[in-house]
Amino acid sequence: MGQALHTTRWHVLMDPESVAHEAAFRILTAAETAIAERGIFRIALAGGHTPERAYCHLAKADADWANWEIYFGDERCLPANDKERNSVMAADTWLDFVPIPSSRVHPIPVELGAEQAAEEYARLVREALPFDMVLLGMGEDGHTASLFPGQEHPKDELVHAVHNAPKPPPDRITLSAEALGDTRQILLLVTGSSKRPAIQAWCQGEPVPIGRIEGMSPMEVLTDQKAGL
Ligand code: 6PG
Repeated sequence: MGQALHTTRWHVLMDPESVAHEAAFRILTAAETAIAERGIFRIALAGGHTPERAYCHLAKADADWANWEIYFGDERCLPANDKERNSVMAADTWLDFVPIPSSRVHPIPVELGAEQAAEEYARLVREALPFDMVLLGMGEDGHTASLFPGQEHPKDELVHAVHNAPKPPPDRITLSAEALGDTRQILLLVTGSSKRPAIQAWCQGEPVPIGRIEGMSPMEVLTDQKAGL
């Protein structure tokens, strides 16, 4: 049996809305704890569509937003205001509606080009580690952030430039597996039947990218019944 069953805590919820609700609750709870203990909550956000509902819940939540600091697990090399950019999605569904100081929201500067943006963001990430929480999604092939099957990256990098990504757009920037794992908590959101084969492959020990992420505590996985174990 793969390490997925040993270093991971699975929570199968009714549907995507229940997953979103639970995710928002866990993020807000983690923030309260981090701010009480360290005065700040540093979170790296997931992209894709699955976290959108949770972000919409956070947009309506009451929290100590002044002490949140926002990073991104990955970004797509697209024009600044492109709706397909993960930072634009997060702003449109959540960040534009809460008073997190703009100096504490750190989009990945993809407009610099993948290599330079990766270098720049690595400097920022190095200062921030360990995160308090890393939020992840997962693709049908078991990829997470922009860490795709069959793509290797230099081990000493905290942030990678990605080319020829199998999921459009081809050029992306992603935090490394090490940086995504340098966190107090990891929360993975997976919904929909199309993701079930990847979850099964992961649990059977197949080397899918999501399996490379290991944090300080067991990964918490929120799935709906369609995707779940
Ligand atoms: C991205 C994401 C990617 C995403 C998965 C799942 O930029 O595309 O970071 O890793 O989390 O592909 O995407 P969905 O949530 O849209 O299914």
